[in-house]
Amino acid sequence: MAQNEMKRILVTGAVGQIGSELTMALREKYGADNVLATGRKTPPSKELLESGPFEYIDVADKASVEAVVDKYEIDTIYHMAAILSAVGEDKPWLCWSVNMDGLKNVLDIGVEKKLTRIFVPSSIAVWGPGAPLEMTPNETVLKPTTMYGVTKVAGELLADYYFKRFGLDCRGVRYPGIISHETLPGGGTTDYAVGIYYDAVIKGSYECFVREDTVLPMMYMPDAIKATLDLMEAPVENLKHHNDFNIAAMSFSVTELAGSIRKVMPEFTCTYKPDSRQAIADSWPNSIDDTAAREEWGWKPAFDLDAMTEDMLANLRRKHEAGLLV
Ligand SMILES: NC(=O)c1ccc[n+]([C@@H]2O[C@H](COP(=O)([O-])OP(=O)(O)OC[C@H]3O[C@@H](n4cnc5c(N)ncnc54)[C@H](O)[C@@H]3O)[C@@H](O)[C@H]2O)c1
Repeated sequence: MAQNEMKRILVTGAVGQIGSELTMALREKYGADNVLATGRKTPPSKELLESGPFEYIDVADKASVEAVVDKYEIDTIYHMAAILSAVGEDKPWLCWSVNMDGLKNVLDIGVEKKLTRIFVPSSIAVWGPGAPLEMTPNETVLKPTTMYGVTKVAGELLADYYFKRFGLDCRGVRYPGIISHETLPGGGTTDYAVGIYYDAVIKGSYECFVREDTVLPMMYMPDAIKATLDLMEAPVENLKHHNDFNIAAMSFSVTELAGSIRKVMPEFTCTYKPDSRQAIADSWPNSIDDTAAREEWGWKPAFDLDAMTEDMLANLRRKHEAGLLV
C-alpha cells in the first residue's frame, strides 16, 4: 500500500487509560471503521465497543497480533499495551514479557508486513540516579531502578534499532504522568494525581500514597492525545529523534495540586501515607526539557494545572451526579 494513501490502524492496550481515549480520537480523525481497538481481558466500555471494531489479543503471543493485522489489513499500529511501574514492581517478569516480547512482536510484524508506521510509547520512568532532576534533557544518563523503566529504556533503543537497521518508521514520546477522567489508570506511580480528583468529588478528601513535597512532571490527557497524533503525522525527514522524545506540560507538588483543587472546592482535605511507590517517585525527575519535540515537530501543550483542575472537576462532578462514579 502506498504511504499516506489510507490508514488502517490497530491500537493495542485500547481498554487502558490512554488507549481508550486515543482510540476515540483516532476514530474521529481517520474514520471509525479504520481503527481496530484491541484489549487483553478487560471488557471495553460501551462507547469503545459500539463505535468501531474490537478484538481480544495478547501482545506477548505474536500469532494473535498477526491474525488481527492480517484480518483488518492494518498498516499503522499504536502500541499502548504495557504493564506499568507499580504493577511491574509486583510482577517484574510479567512486565518484562509484556513490555519487551510484546514490543518485539509488534516491531517484527511491522518489518515482515511492511507496515507504514508504529507508535511506541515511553515514559519518564527511563530515568533514575545520575540524571539531573530539574529540566532533565533528552540526552542524559538512563539508569532506571524499576523493571518498568528497564523495559522502557530497552524499548526505546530497540525501536531506534529497527528504524536504523530495518527502516521501520517507529516513533515515541516519554509520557509524563497522565491525568484523565475517562478511564482509571492501570497501576502506575503517578496514579495519585488522578485519584485525588476522583476522591475530591466522591468523598471531599484524599489519602495520598506519596509525600506532599513530591514533584513529578504531569500532563492532561487532551495534550497527551495531541502529542501522539502530531508526532505520528510529522514528516519523517524533520525527525532527528524517533522513539525517545521528552514532552512536558506541567510539574507540581502534591501540596500545589491539593491547593489547585481547593480553589474550586475550598473544603477539600488531603492526608499523606507514603508507601512503596514513594521510592519510585523519588527516582524520577521533577521537570523535563522538551526542546527537541518543540523543534522537530512543533510540540506545545495547552493545559496548565489550574485549567486542568477546572476541567477534571467539572467532568467528574457531572459523572458523579449521573451516578457513574462509585
Ligand atoms: N498513563 C500514564 O501516566 C503513562 C505515563 C508514561 C507512559 N505511559 C505508557 O503509555 C502506554 C499506555 O499506558 P496506559 O496508562 O494507557 O496503561 P494502562 O495500564 O491503563 O493500559 C494498558 C493496557 O494494556 C493491556 N495489556 C496488558 N498486558 C497485555 C497483553 N499481554 N496483551 C495485550 N494487552 C495487554 C492492559 O489490559 C491495559 O488495558 C504504556 O506504554 C505506558 O507505559 C503511560
